[in-house]
Amino acid sequence: MKKILITRKISHQFIEQLEQIGHVVMWDKELTPMPREAFLSEVKDATACFITLSESIDEEVLKEASKLKIIANMAVGYDNIDVQKANDNGITVTNTPDILTETTAELGFTLMLTVARRIVEAERYVQEGQWQSWGPYLLSGKDVHDSTVGIYGMGDIGRAFARRLKGFNTRILYHNRTQNQDAENELNATYVSFEILLKESDYVICTAPLTPQTENQFESNAFKLMKNDTIFINIGRGAIVDETALVEALRNKDILGCGLDVLRQEPIDMNHPLLKFDNVVIVPHIGSASRLTRDRMVQLCVNNIVAVLNKQLPITPVKVNN
Ligand code: GLV
Repeated sequence: MKKILITRKISHQFIEQLEQIGHVVMWDKELTPMPREAFLSEVKDATACFITLSESIDEEVLKEASKLKIIANMAVGYDNIDVQKANDNGITVTNTPDILTETTAELGFTLMLTVARRIVEAERYVQEGQWQSWGPYLLSGKDVHDSTVGIYGMGDIGRAFARRLKGFNTRILYHNRTQNQDAENELNATYVSFEILLKESDYVICTAPLTPQTENQFESNAFKLMKNDTIFINIGRGAIVDETALVEALRNKDILGCGLDVLRQEPIDMNHPLLKFDNVVIVPHIGSASRLTRDRMVQLCVNNIVAVLNKQLPITPVKVNN
């Protein structure tokens, strides 16, 4: 019987579907990743593997995984997987695009408004009993309406984010690997160089995937080019940002604040200097975390595994360099 390895606890309704086609071995914890050693040992005789972005699929894993036919990644991003090497070894890699687009854009939008209107600070202020009276400038923040919003990465999520700006009368700039004419027509967005995006935006929103080209794209010079009342939001991947440079920019007040759903190292080290700023809001990589979207992501991983083990085409294969 084919072994299907699942590296995180998923609910019974999904396991039952996989049990129809194989023998399921599941790491039975929801919030603790499968230890690397256990993963390396279990993957040896697995035919299919359902993973999360906590697992790194590199040469070491691929050398062990001689029977593997499919890796179903429960994420749209797949920077945790050496897709080329997996494909070279005859392994299909799948991800979960489309179904998480709107939910992730909503989290990005939430972060933007939260930082702009200082919601976390304001809530703390009330909880700590500091609310004594109304004040003319008490916790005053920054408007989103009538501002310039610069989107770095005009893929599906960038577009869904831009669509949400419609009621805010914003000017939309974007920078992307390639110009996206459809997005321009739909959203009245203007393609600009990275430098212009940084210089002119009141909000810079990073929705890009992590690739060798985007790694450390936001380094010290990038933050210096931003206006000192710009708010930076990252819902892409942590490694797109040089966090030392970001901390420096916050210390020097080169930017007004930031909202981060992703970090270079997750979970965050509690001594991380980013945790010291009132104008930084960090959430634990929950971009796609609505109940419905997470159920859909699990179901899509299951469907991809079922398809490949039944010798059918995968539904959402990752193509190298796409
Ligand atoms: C989450 O970050 C994802 O890539 O789906």
